[in-house]
Amino acid sequence: MAIKHFLQFNDLNADELAHIFDRTRWIKEQFKAYQQYWPLTDRTLVMIFEKASTRTRLSFEAGMQQLGGSAIYLNTRDSQLGRGEPVEDAAQVISRMSDIVMIRTFEQEIIERFAANSRVPVVNGLTNEYHPCQILADIFTYIEHHGSIKGKTVAWIGDSNNVCNTWLQAAEVLDFNVHVSTPPGYEVEPERANLYGTDHYEEFTDPMEAARGADLVTTDVWTSMGFEAENEERRRDFHDWQVDADMMRIAGKDALFMHCLPAHRGEEVTADVIDGPQSVVWDEAENRLHTQKALMEYLLLGKVQA
Ligand code: CP
Ligand code: NVA
Repeated sequence: MAIKHFLQFNDLNADELAHIFDRTRWIKEQFKAYQQYWPLTDRTLVMIFEKASTRTRLSFEAGMQQLGGSAIYLNTRDSQLGRGEPVEDAAQVISRMSDIVMIRTFEQEIIERFAANSRVPVVNGLTNEYHPCQILADIFTYIEHHGSIKGKTVAWIGDSNNVCNTWLQAAEVLDFNVHVSTPPGYEVEPERANLYGTDHYEEFTDPMEAARGADLVTTDVWTSMGFEAENEERRRDFHDWQVDADMMRIAGKDALFMHCLPAHRGEEVTADVIDGPQSVVWDEAENRLHTQKALMEYLLLGKVQA
C-alpha cells in the first residue's frame, strides 16, 4: 500500500471515513469490554510537539499502547528540532526509526515538508491552519448522538481558526453545511472559502442568525496557540461571539454543543452551556482516543475487517 498521510481532513474520502467510523465503533466496544486488541504490536509512533497539548498527546500515546505498540514523545526543547535541524533531515531520520509520526506544529507547510520526506505515514496533530484529528472525533461524536451528519447544519461561532477551517473541509467531504459567524476582521480567508466551494458554507454577521436552527453549535478559544500577542485585542473583538443559553435556545433543544477544549468559561462559552445537557464535550474528548486508534489502524494496516 502506498504511504497514506492525514495532513488535512480531505486526505480521506467519504468511503474511507465511513470505514474509520465503523472501526472506531468496534475498537471502542473492545476497549470498554476490556478486550485486548493488539494489531500494532512492535509498531512505534513518534509524536512531535512544538505546542502544548493534553488531549492529543494522551489520546495518541494511550491509543498506540492499547493497540499493542509504543509511543515516543519529542518536543522542540529537548531535541535537535528546536536547534535548526532542517525538517527534511528530521523526517528522513525519524521515519527510518518509526512506523508512524504525529506532529503538532505551527505552519501547515512544515508538516507538508516533513511528509514529503517521510517513509511512514504522517498525521497532523494540529497546525495553525488545520486540526483534522479533532474533527474526526467530533463527527464520530455527532454520529453517536444523532446519526449521520449528512445534510445537517453546524454553526461555528468565533474565530475562523484551524478547527473552523477543518469543519469547512469536512463539510465538503461529508456533505453537510457550516454557518460561520466571526467578528469583523476575523472572517474565513477568501481563498480558503473558494477552496472549499460555496455549497456547504455560509457566513453570518450576527452569531444568533448563524446558530438559528443549527443541529450543532460549536466554538473554540478566542486566541489560539501562537497568537498570544493578540490576546487583549481579541478579548475586546470577540466579546459578542459567545455561545450562551439564548443561542442554544435559538438553535433548538435537540442541538448539540461541542468544543475541542481547552475551554474558557465566560469567554467563548458560558458555564451553563458547556456544563449543560446539550453539551457533549467529554464524549468528544474521549472519542479522540477511539477515532485515532481506528485512524492509525487504517494508515498502517489498510481496511481491516472486523
Ligand atoms: N483539543 C485538543 O487538541 O486538545 P489538546 O491541545 O489538549 O491536545
Ligand atoms: N484553536 C486552538 C485549538 C486547541 C486544541 C489552538 O490552535 O490553540
